[in-house]
Parts: sequence; C-alpha cells; structure tokens
Amino acid sequence: MFITLEGPEGSGKTSHIPHLVEFLREKGYTVFPTREPGGTSISEQIRDVLHDMKNAEMHARTETLLYQSARAQIVEQVIKPRLADGEIVLSDRYYDSTIAYQGYGHQQDLDEIRALVKYATGGLKPDLTVLLDLDVEVGLGRKKKDNEWNRMDAKTVDFHKRVRVGYLEMVNAEPERWVLVNSEQAWESVQDELRRVILERL
Ligand code: TMP
Repeated sequence: MFITLEGPEGSGKTSHIPHLVEFLREKGYTVFPTREPGGTSISEQIRDVLHDMKNAEMHARTETLLYQSARAQIVEQVIKPRLADGEIVLSDRYYDSTIAYQGYGHQQDLDEIRALVKYATGGLKPDLTVLLDLDVEVGLGRKKKDNEWNRMDAKTVDFHKRVRVGYLEMVNAEPERWVLVNSEQAWESVQDELRRVILERL
C-alpha cells in the first residue's frame, strides 16, 4: 500500500508522519516512511540543490526536471522494492507536489508536467493521498516560525495560493484517491483524522 501526504507550506505533514508510523507499527503493519525530494543519497543531494537559497536564478524547467530526477531514483531504489515486499510506504510528498508547485505554481503546461511525472515514476500511483489543507498565509507563517525557510518557501504568496488551488482541483478530479483533512484544526485532531482515514483504507 502506497500512501502519500501532500499540502501547501506549513501544513504539518512532516510532524505527523513519525506519529502515524509509530501508530501503524503498533497495529502490526510494516511501514516505511520517506520524503520527497530526498529519501536516497542521490535524491538528498538533489534536494540540497533545489532548496539552496543561493540558487535563486534556477529556471522553472530546471527545477521541474531536478524534482523528477530525485523522484526517479527513490521510486526505483526504495518505493517499488518495498511495495513489492508488501510494506506500507508512507511518503511526505510525491508527484502531486510537482503538479501543484511546478504546474499550477509556476503555471507551466499541465499536460507536459503530467507526462514528465509519468516518465519519472514509471506510472506508479499512490493508493491513497491525503491533502493537509490550510490557508496559505497561515501555513507560511507557521513555517517561518519553525526556521525551515528554503528557496521554495521564498516564492510569492500568489505562487503558494496557486499551489493550493491546484491541490483542491486535484482532489475534485480524483476523489477516489484523495482525502482532504483540514490542517487548521488542533494538531491532535488532525492526527486522529489521519489515523482514521489510513486505517479505513487499509
Ligand atoms: P518540505 O520538505 O518542507 O515540504 O519542502 C519541500 C519543498 O519542495 C516544498 O516547498 C514543495 C517543493 N516541492 C516541489 O516544488 N515539487 C515537488 O515535486 C516536490 C516533491 C516538492
């Protein structure tokens, strides 16, 4: 079972994942958490290039392709083998981030972006994707406070608003794969909802 968490900046995905993993392991499931971009040595090196504030001149197409390179590696090296062994792979972001950020955010052609994503993943789709949705300015405020500011966070508020619109359109277009969770609720309520949604799907 392949589960992905998505959301705009500051949606809390990263803080929820370790608790979900612990919860599922206690229930007897074998779970492997990972993140994008990253999760392999090569992909983590690409992440550093993508997020480095000194790479402000990076073109949107360069950015799009680097995310796909990082993704192709983790899909082949980590995700496919673990799924083949019957594990649950729980990923902090996956290709929907490219559609939201590089497609909607940078306003690049969505069909071209979808074709690239398909090439990078070999067509591997998540079984369940949860959108942790929240107001863009609330999320960016949370992230600034956490001191995790990177090159992507530094895009304009309008860019991040387009990202959120993109996510909401994806939820509507593919409701059988997506579940929306309001991440402006108290952290514990979000965690409870995530546990319920995932258990239901399992
Ligand atoms: P995060 O780990 O803090 O969520 O940072 C990842 C950043 O990378 C976030 O700003 C979203 C961005 N991103 C893309 O723009 N496209 C992608 O395909 C992925 C996986 C992430």
